Amino acid sequence: MRLLVTGGAGFIGSNFVRYVLGERPAVRVTVLDNLSYAGSLRSLEGLDPERFRFVRGDIADADLVGGLVPEHDAIVHFAAESHNDNSLRDPTPFVHTNLVGTFTLLEAARRHDVRFHHISTDEVYGDLALDDPARFTESTPYNPSSPYSSTKAGSDLLVRAWVRSFGVRATISNCSNNYGPYQHVEKFIPRQITNVLTGLRPKLYGDGLNVRDWIHTEDHSSAVLAILERGRIGETYLIGADGERSNREVVEAILELLGEPSDAYDLVRDRPGHDVRYAIDSSKLRAELGWAPRYTDFRAGLAATIQWYREHEDWWRPAKDEVEAAYAAQGQ
Ligand SMILES: NC(=O)c1ccc[n+]([C@@H]2O[C@H](COP(=O)([O-])OP(=O)(O)OC[C@H]3O[C@@H](n4cnc5c(N)ncnc54)[C@H](O)[C@@H]3O)[C@@H](O)[C@H]2O)c1
Repeated sequence: MRLLVTGGAGFIGSNFVRYVLGERPAVRVTVLDNLSYAGSLRSLEGLDPERFRFVRGDIADADLVGGLVPEHDAIVHFAAESHNDNSLRDPTPFVHTNLVGTFTLLEAARRHDVRFHHISTDEVYGDLALDDPARFTESTPYNPSSPYSSTKAGSDLLVRAWVRSFGVRATISNCSNNYGPYQHVEKFIPRQITNVLTGLRPKLYGDGLNVRDWIHTEDHSSAVLAILERGRIGETYLIGADGERSNREVVEAILELLGEPSDAYDLVRDRPGHDVRYAIDSSKLRAELGWAPRYTDFRAGLAATIQWYREHEDWWRPAKDEVEAAYAAQGQ
């Protein structure tokens, strides 16, 4: 099995590449990534060159994509502009990568009849009220809030249409918020951990009560592999690990695990349009494909993630000051 993994130098993609090479000895991987600010070759160090190849390029480059796709049995499409806050500052690259890039890959998959798995987010469904007993399911209507989530929603709809109109052999997964090693310091959990490690106070948007449904990135990887291998063509699967927690709870846990007082954080200006709560019902994935998460102890997963950031300061330090300066300029 030869996999073309887009966005494999990013957080979830690089974790998936390590996971699949470890779990499936017969798989070979090509990563296609343009090494945007969010991608790093350092996240792919140490992989077996016999089974792993890196190609630097843009997923919206039709000539490049058209040459690579027929050399593979499947495309696993992680590449995206992925940060909500950035999408509010400048939506342009979000439209380019998430929409035009996905379109370009779909056209190549159609032309060469290559299996396609599309990685998406639960943010396409909008948000839930804090006291709403409901969780997102595969039939929840799309209602995205930000330029990020709307371009992801658009990319999902392109995939659905290419399945129906052109018979592309595609599946889609919409996952909740990931945490784990190799996540960029702009994102919520790494930002708070590295704030404490550099002597800054964690920052919570608004009242800090917004809820995210956390999943360890390795559990996301195992779910994607299950769908790639055994998922029904044309279907969407929601991926989640029953990890609902308020942002405040997460920051308090990080502070406690780092030996700081649990109230040593600041409340800052809220993000415009900030989704209140996400929650995933992953029954379909569990029942159909027998998938279950391994990282069910959030505090233990968080402690391991903190340890990784302690040990890999050389990986995250170069980006930290610029990220904090951009947040500071917005009062965040
Ligand atoms: N982070 C989460 O919690 C989460 C949750 C659910 C779904 N997702 C989805 O998972 C995927 C990966 O997210 P992530 O958090 O790893 O993001 P990331 O920002 O860490 O990584 C994205 C990668 O894509 C690459 N890339 C960006 N534009 C590209 C282009 N035009 N051509 C080629 N490569 C390009 C970047 O260089 C980077 O390596 C995204 O599709 C995202 O929507 C993320």
